[in-house]
Amino acid sequence: MAEFTLPANSIIKKNGQIYRAPNGATNIRTFKIYRWEPDTGENPRYDTYEIDMDQCGPMVLDALIKIKNEVDTTLAFRRSCREGICGSCAMNIGGENTLACTKAIEDFKGTIDISPLPHMQVVKDLIPDLTHFYAQYASIKPWLQSDTPAPPDKERLQSIEDRTELDGLYECILCACCSTSCPSYWWNSERYLGPAALLQANRWIKDSRDEATGERLDALEDPFKVYRCHTIMNCTQACPKGLNPAKAIAEIKLKMAERQL
Ligand code: SF4
Ligand code: SF4
Ligand code: FES
Repeated sequence: MAEFTLPANSIIKKNGQIYRAPNGATNIRTFKIYRWEPDTGENPRYDTYEIDMDQCGPMVLDALIKIKNEVDTTLAFRRSCREGICGSCAMNIGGENTLACTKAIEDFKGTIDISPLPHMQVVKDLIPDLTHFYAQYASIKPWLQSDTPAPPDKERLQSIEDRTELDGLYECILCACCSTSCPSYWWNSERYLGPAALLQANRWIKDSRDEATGERLDALEDPFKVYRCHTIMNCTQACPKGLNPAKAIAEIKLKMAERQL
């Protein structure tokens, strides 16, 4: 079996600083959180935070906000909506990519490990660099393309049946939980678009109002952009919105095959 060793200067210190719960706290949960401050030149570490759950909300994001507000203001993470809509708080919690704001602390036993989304460059602490991820999203041209002029003073209408075709696609919040759980994306993210961008591509391919289906499929005809998906299904398991990117990718592959016939 191949064995890999990390260079001495890239070791993640398992035990960083420990922040104890206040005296008298009886309902304590422990969080081990990845910390990395690029400006210090130091290696990453895991800091340990004991939180009094009698003084904290029920979600993982509640604990992170409590730590930031009351224990350690240097902790950096993204969040905005607190209700699973903005996608900002995606991170790896207890070994799974998910949203901190919709993940209940009581779903975990013992210490809860929290790290940034895997296989991404880290900006600081729990904040991944999503520049490339968003560029890939932009590359699928996520907007309606039509040469037919829109009816004056009205929106472009769609039948109920055609609108239903977009269910399971339009709900994507671009949190990146799926792409960063995909082994194919880990190893080929420069050229493979990954499940999030491809689910979004399928959302526009299936939109009855869009007139660029051929061009969209042409743009995806490439050995890497779509075909690096090997149906491993991690993406579908990871999606906190219950979507099925693997199915969306299979539908794109089917459309590509059908037009060859
Ligand atoms: S099904 Fe495709 S996109 Fe999803 S995890 Fe597997 S390889 Fe990645
Ligand atoms: S498909 Fe799901 S996991 Fe992937 S970006 Fe969209 S909401 Fe997030
Ligand atoms: S804070 Fe918006 S999805 Fe979690």
